[in-house]
Amino acid sequence: MNSGYPLIRPRRLRSSLKISNLVRETSLDPSKFIMPYFVTHGKSVKEPIETMPDQFRYSIDELLKELKEVKNLNIGGILLFGVPEHKDELASESYSDNGIIQTALKAVKDEYPDIAVVTDVCMCDYTSHGHCGIVDENGYVKNDETLEYLAKISVSYAKAGADIIAPSDMMDGRVKKIREALDDESLENIPIMSYSSKYASAFYEPFRDAADCSPKFGNRKSYQMDYSNSEEAILETALDIDEGADIIMVKPALSYLDVIYRLKKSFKRPLAAYNVSGEYSMIKAAAKLGYLKEEPAVLEMLTSIKRAGADIIISYYSIYAAKLLR
Ligand code: PBG
Repeated sequence: MNSGYPLIRPRRLRSSLKISNLVRETSLDPSKFIMPYFVTHGKSVKEPIETMPDQFRYSIDELLKELKEVKNLNIGGILLFGVPEHKDELASESYSDNGIIQTALKAVKDEYPDIAVVTDVCMCDYTSHGHCGIVDENGYVKNDETLEYLAKISVSYAKAGADIIAPSDMMDGRVKKIREALDDESLENIPIMSYSSKYASAFYEPFRDAADCSPKFGNRKSYQMDYSNSEEAILETALDIDEGADIIMVKPALSYLDVIYRLKKSFKRPLAAYNVSGEYSMIKAAAKLGYLKEEPAVLEMLTSIKRAGADIIISYYSIYAAKLLR
């Protein structure tokens, strides 16, 4: 570069904290964080999740106590996962009026009407086999039959008070089916946050322990994406937007920052990135062993997701980070 201008010294802008704060390009805002929670039946339950230190399975009364912090820290929203009492082939608790999520939604809405509640829509927490849909005799997930169930679950959650419906199952055509079902029930104001590019990832392992939803046979590779592909993320996202997705998502986040960047450039839609369980537990484990310092590592990780182009960050570190940012 020989611009003819006086020597440009990027370090000048780093010469003091005042100045570097002023020219900082990316900053974290807790009102754009979503904190996930695992909700279970019972009373006074706060059960540690072994593979996710400092995360718990909460009964509803305990969850309500936690949410005080969400409100005080001005966290943007919460994402609820159900740990049901009853599992079967048809995931019947997921669309029951007395299901764990439906019950939690009513309680949360009662006490915290201002907290945005996102509900994950998928069958794997509720099926006896742990797959994300209805399975045929060969163990293959039946796409079109599953759609009927996903629509039923979504309507049930929206009626119980969910603010945003977030399908994570990766069946083809699910956003359209869910949109139509919501509209038919006059729930046209409920937005869909679609897990539009969800990769088949090793980083979900701790979550599967937390929600007890590991597939009992096979894997999820017939419906989740191959991590070698990013063109496919564009296609999957374009299809979801076409079908009515209001918010798009990349999941996981850290190994997919390039995908976040590409999608944000390609689509003018709010984009959420899911900083998944394995990404959380990696830092927790390293910090516990004294291999790195948790606080700066968390802020650097979350900032990198934002810098790549995410508008919304879903992270188990939401509360932790919001406290650091205070
Ligand atoms: C359900 C679902 C999963 C996650 C979110 N929703 C597990 C999976 O697809 O196997 C993973 C979230 C995380 O790892 O934090 N389909």
